[in-house]
Amino acid sequence: MSSERHTIEALQQEGRTFPPPPAFAAQANATAALYERDLESFWGAEAIARVSWSTPFERVLDWQPPYARWFLGGTLNACHNCVDRHVEAGRGDRVAFHWEGEPEGERRSLTFADLQREVVRLASALRRLGVGRGTPVGIYMGMVPEQAIAMLACARLGAPHTVVFGGFSAEALGSRLKDMGCAVLITQDEGWRRGKRVPLKANADSALALAPSVGTAVVLRRTGGAVTMAPGRDRWWHELVAAEEGDPAGCPCEPMDAEDLLYLLYTSGTTAQPKGIVHTTGGYLVGVSTTHHYVFDVKPDTVYWCAADIGWVTGHSYIVYGPLCNGTTSVLYEGTPDFPDRDRWWAIVERYRVSVLYTAPTSIRTHMRWGPAHAEAHDLSSLRLLGTVGEPINPEAWIWYRDHIGGGRTPIVDTWWQTETGMIMITPLPGVTTCKPGSAGRPFPGVEVRVVDDHGREVAREQGGHLVLTRPWPAMLRGIHRDPERYRETYWSRFPGVYVAGDGARVDQDGDIWLLGRVDDVMNVSAHRISTIEVESALVDHPSVAEAAVCGRSDPTTGQAIVAYVTLKGEHQPSVAHVQRLREHVGRKIGKIAMPASIVFTGELPKTRSGKIMRRLLRDVAEHRALGDTTTLADPQVLEELRARALTDPGQEG
Ligand code: PRX
Repeated sequence: MSSERHTIEALQQEGRTFPPPPAFAAQANATAALYERDLESFWGAEAIARVSWSTPFERVLDWQPPYARWFLGGTLNACHNCVDRHVEAGRGDRVAFHWEGEPEGERRSLTFADLQREVVRLASALRRLGVGRGTPVGIYMGMVPEQAIAMLACARLGAPHTVVFGGFSAEALGSRLKDMGCAVLITQDEGWRRGKRVPLKANADSALALAPSVGTAVVLRRTGGAVTMAPGRDRWWHELVAAEEGDPAGCPCEPMDAEDLLYLLYTSGTTAQPKGIVHTTGGYLVGVSTTHHYVFDVKPDTVYWCAADIGWVTGHSYIVYGPLCNGTTSVLYEGTPDFPDRDRWWAIVERYRVSVLYTAPTSIRTHMRWGPAHAEAHDLSSLRLLGTVGEPINPEAWIWYRDHIGGGRTPIVDTWWQTETGMIMITPLPGVTTCKPGSAGRPFPGVEVRVVDDHGREVAREQGGHLVLTRPWPAMLRGIHRDPERYRETYWSRFPGVYVAGDGARVDQDGDIWLLGRVDDVMNVSAHRISTIEVESALVDHPSVAEAAVCGRSDPTTGQAIVAYVTLKGEHQPSVAHVQRLREHVGRKIGKIAMPASIVFTGELPKTRSGKIMRRLLRDVAEHRALGDTTTLADPQVLEELRARALTDPGQEG
């Protein structure tokens, strides 16, 4: 709790406000009247305005807590909504994606007509491989247009997908493919990252050993690097589609029930096993297209760039389904912001005249650290709106973003949401909201948020508490794959009838919401969710480790950094080389993103008398803070020793 108090104090000093520029307000998609609409009539009207239905829905909502069904009786196809209908309406020449490869000079612009042709070609090929309604498909790719094409081809056939972020390890991929029971995996030879090749196919080969349900792997040739193709299992994408014409009539969109599964996306919870978050078709599409329309103020000529990775929910909702459903032109960039130079992003903004940019605070802080000269070298005058997502933004970064990227003129939308919510839930509405650096503003129209104490009672203004959502929303998760008990327990058991987000928050005197970070054992590293227990089990999996406890500490760039306290088995000695071995072990088990920034070796971990590891104390040590209450600690000496070690940093890696 001390970290929460600390954050509240820090943020309360922030008093700057930025009213909407009148010229922006005059043309904005959102108006203040949106907040006055009643939940069902609001979503019912948006569902008709933004989405095409094969069969119109009969009812907007059926709410049997904790399960909601939206747009009952309606049928539709997500691919039809994102692709075909734009072509049918004569907008086939509009660009869907301006793609930049990481190697300089590699560029492709795909119109909606191009997208339709490529989606249909792949969908036809997948259909020949036996993929149809309900066939689970895994996708493990880099940031290439074919990743979106793969998702849309699945959606066209009614085959649910699970996209696994290309930075995840073979083991993480294998366990997800296995959990969903995927029949097919779509991957690529290699990806590009900061000039290096990422061995996606080689990782997939190891993953497939863990996921026997996968009978076919479809492999896109991206870099041309050498890969092993298993006869009978592995098929080249270009060979499969070679004979396909791409005629949409030959591979029509499968009409799906509004509540049919569109995809699973795995995310970290408070146990070692990631949760397969269930997203269905109708409500999800309505939720993401509506929020995308109002929050990003998109117009027919907008060039929109969400610089997230498609492998995270931000990419699913705001690179693929939301923008394409709205017929928006997007930028898609394959690589890192510093390749070959630190001005790469700004060169892209200038080249495509990007008008809306959406990214995470951790990226903004990285650019801050590199200094404003890289942005100043480019013409960024096309930008009219900026957005952030994934973690609380510190006011300094907000102001820097506005001044140095937004030319001191753009509104900034700080959007709070989660993999589970599927869509933006708390956000300023550009043109309506007076923005405050560090605050995510108000609940989106039709969304209701409360901040409650440990007993579920609403707290007074300016008091910190748990963020809960009190009414259903269309893009909400419909459960955790194969684990209804965990669904109830994780989100719905703490306070009756309301969804517990796991975040702390406070509401200020004006009704604006300030997010205070996670209140559970989930860390937020570079705007990515990682559970302490996942990292602990990866560490304990190493033969030298007896016990491990993991927590997050503040980091000026990544938001939080991972600190691991490790006790080694008798015969093993702490050393700098061993720190590296353990970090690499975690990298192999989960992915580089989960590698601890610091490892502290210790003879013992601080535990209560009942044997529970006292994480709060470990966090205090990691933050170099005054220690909280230690009276329940079995051996207070352990903590003193740990603190001494952490302060002198022996065996640590930064
Ligand atoms: O802690 C909150 C933080 O990210 C968590 C959700 O992570 P994930 O499911 O990976 O989705 C990230 C992208 C939607 C939340 O529980 N978070 C997300 N956006 C914000 C945020 N914290 C503060 N401010 C935000 N704008």
